[in-house]
Amino acid sequence: MPRPSSRISGIVPSGKDGWEVHFAAWTRKEAGEDIIMLSVGDHDFDTPSQTIEACVTAVRGSNHHYTPLPGLPRLRRAMAAASTACTGVETSPDQVIATPGGQAALYAAVQGVLDQGDHAIVVAPYYATYPNTFSAAGADFTVVETPAEDGFQPRADMIRAAIRPNTRAILINTPNNPTGAVYSRERLEQLAEVCREHDLWLLSDEVYWTLGGGEHVSPRSLPGMAERTLVINSMSKSHGMTGWRMGWLNGPEEMITLMINLNLVTTYGLPAFISIACSEALENRYGVKEIAERYAARRTVLLDAVRGMNDVTVRGSEGGMYVMLDISAVEPDDEKFAWALLDNEKVGVMPGSSFGEAAAGHIRISLCQPEPVLREAARRLRRFASSYRREAA
Ligand SMILES: Cc1ncc(COP(=O)(O)O)c(C=O)c1O
Repeated sequence: MPRPSSRISGIVPSGKDGWEVHFAAWTRKEAGEDIIMLSVGDHDFDTPSQTIEACVTAVRGSNHHYTPLPGLPRLRRAMAAASTACTGVETSPDQVIATPGGQAALYAAVQGVLDQGDHAIVVAPYYATYPNTFSAAGADFTVVETPAEDGFQPRADMIRAAIRPNTRAILINTPNNPTGAVYSRERLEQLAEVCREHDLWLLSDEVYWTLGGGEHVSPRSLPGMAERTLVINSMSKSHGMTGWRMGWLNGPEEMITLMINLNLVTTYGLPAFISIACSEALENRYGVKEIAERYAARRTVLLDAVRGMNDVTVRGSEGGMYVMLDISAVEPDDEKFAWALLDNEKVGVMPGSSFGEAAAGHIRISLCQPEPVLREAARRLRRFASSYRREAA
């Protein structure tokens, strides 16, 4: 085989590999063991039935052809309306472009604002694909942690200290995967000031915006930010549609127009029947309220069960699909903790350090299981944490 490009060879998983725990848990579950999987971030339920019916009707209705590059006009209108609700800024269809999932929106945003050799700041803990999305663009990046003891909120002074002459963008995610932190208005205002001061793009990943605890604050709504913010959005989490691969990017019209050219050489538009089903799901908010309520109830169940536990501290965990627990008082090595929890109590969780240094000493628990399963997992965790301490003593 001739040599592959260094660009493609360079896209390799980085950092500590917490997925080993996940894969071990999954293999043992497949083999018939009573393993509770709290390591994955995908819904345990199907897409709402109205969305499925809309897709079946659309596919039977001859919608089998190419669609316009930035998305069907109806889909862009529905996405613009959702962006208005998400960001609090009146959004026109020309300010959105449909992409195959939020990941493709992230990829497009990074390709759109960074040239080879440019520098970006990635606020951590972050979603696992972020570093490689920058590497794929030939861009350099610095990871700036959000301190756990600060509830994983971003710190403008730490971000400012990482800015270089060639820094072009900052990437944030709120509500956050993996910490569940919901960035406060005050911290976002401070971050916005840094962006304005240094004329930076803000790439704002808001795919969990419907799953926050309270009001969702988008940095796009802050003074002077609409012209420099690209919002990454998706139907995966809000509408229960991870496998449908539908997301969008929202930003200044001039930038979105340029992005259409990227679609020309990548996706060349999206499937017509999926686009129609997604339009209908967005217009009618199919499943959105129910899914948000389901995760809110699960979060309450798990946090209530954990709050009484000795030596286990809840950090972040205000929104999204995850809860982050500081287990360092039980065992400072989170990987060791996760392996022992799997071996002794058959619960699979993600070690925090797989998401960056700031999450070391933590475990990430996914809420993608029904309430009784989460209650049982909490019981096992309690038993494990108390006996583990006794052994250590
Ligand atoms: C923070 C964050 N951004 C983006 C994505 C990408 O989601 P999708 O490509 O399914 O829309 C995910 C998926 O887990 C995520 O957690």
